[in-house]
Amino acid sequence: MLYMLGALAFGYLLGSIPFGVIFTRMAGLGDIRQVGSGNIGATNVLRTGRKGLAAATLIGDALKGTAAVLIAARWGDQFATLAALGAFLGHLYPVWLRFKGGKGVATFIGVLIGLNWMVALIFAAIWLGVAFASRYSSLSALVASATTPIAFWLLGQPAMAAMTIMLVALLWWKHSANISRLLDGTEGKIGQKG
Ligand code: G3P
Repeated sequence: MLYMLGALAFGYLLGSIPFGVIFTRMAGLGDIRQVGSGNIGATNVLRTGRKGLAAATLIGDALKGTAAVLIAARWGDQFATLAALGAFLGHLYPVWLRFKGGKGVATFIGVLIGLNWMVALIFAAIWLGVAFASRYSSLSALVASATTPIAFWLLGQPAMAAMTIMLVALLWWKHSANISRLLDGTEGKIGQKG
């Protein structure tokens, strides 16, 4: 039991590193939470016009999830799953930002890479397809994430499907404002400043 809590806490600590906040501060851009949507993720960092910083944020936020899963996996699948959950919660509710974190998309794909690279590939392909067609980052994340539990189920991992339903529900919850903006046609498109 203690080890399981340890895996969850380890994942949380890694996941709570807010790369978007750190990179934009280091670049002298101030607080990313005062820009655009106020989110700390790569989509919002892109609104500063700094593509390199946005890419670094995407990679950092994803890799912290992958690292948490792969390190914890050395002790077994159960620990990897708990570290995945911890990393995702860490990104959404980081103690360092008074529990006001990001929306979880990059960290979600990061943990998927660690848990099952095929599911991560399906997620990425759907995200890119929807993004190409709509130019909405949020819509792409909403659609791609919703297909993840189905992908796990079809690949014979029902426990993982159940776990990701929880993550997807949180991801959708964190996108409530985006969903409202998508519905009333005011959501910003990828790269659009504001
Ligand atoms: O990765 C988050 C994305 O889905 C939405 O971000 O900044 O447009 O709210 P944002």
